Amino acid sequence: MGTPTKQGAPITLTIDGFAVTVPEGTSVMRAAAEAGLQIPKLCASDNLEAFGSCRLCVVEIEGRRGTPASCTTPVVEGMVVRTQTQHIKKIRKGVMELYISDHPLDCLTCAANNDCELQDMAGMVGLRDVRYIAPANAPLANHFMRQNTSGEANPQWLPKDETNPYFTYDPAKCIVCSRCVRACEEVQGTFALTIEGRGFDSRVSFGAKTDTALASDCVSCGACVQACPTGTLQENSVIELGTPERAVVTTCAYCGVGCSFKAE
Ligand code: FES
Repeated sequence: MGTPTKQGAPITLTIDGFAVTVPEGTSVMRAAAEAGLQIPKLCASDNLEAFGSCRLCVVEIEGRRGTPASCTTPVVEGMVVRTQTQHIKKIRKGVMELYISDHPLDCLTCAANNDCELQDMAGMVGLRDVRYIAPANAPLANHFMRQNTSGEANPQWLPKDETNPYFTYDPAKCIVCSRCVRACEEVQGTFALTIEGRGFDSRVSFGAKTDTALASDCVSCGACVQACPTGTLQENSVIELGTPERAVVTTCAYCGVGCSFKAE
């Protein structure tokens, strides 16, 4: 969750009126969590270095201009942070609206339904309406859209990559948070994934030369699948059989990722 807590001198700051003391080097997001305050997030996770790409975790800091990402902002002695102002809430809702505007609206039939951080965050920020919509969503979305823009700037979603026998990659559901890319690098040290392109054209790729999961350097460790906050990278067993009622997690010395198995 943002920058992992470092062992440093104690720093006391105020978050939403609560005094919090954490070690120097701790991120504002983690300090808030220590105080029991949850800040919405998508690109941050507990076991990855902070990246600051999704902009959902923005906060206000007294005396500082703009709205910095709490996951990449280290605490400072005497800092006063506000995480729930109207301005912040409006920004977060706008960010989520843009994510959802370019995301398939097939939640009820998605294998990640009810196990999707994008879904959770949309609820957490109070998103109830989407004013912009990708062309592929138009037939589904017409009944609730307030405004149907032409969407001409939106590219068509790329097809699924089902080459790997263990997982499926669906680019249409990707929010390019890079958690999978960082998990591949930081957890597994494989560097099989990268991000190609810029702006609206940016996408997670298995490499320009191969561009399929099976032909890439991927070792099928599952670190990317576990890191994905949406249904973009999904275990084939979950797609076929549904979410396990009970999961068994084992960690062996081979890769250290921790494998999940469906329990009978
Ligand atoms: Fe901080 Fe994504 S969680 S920018």
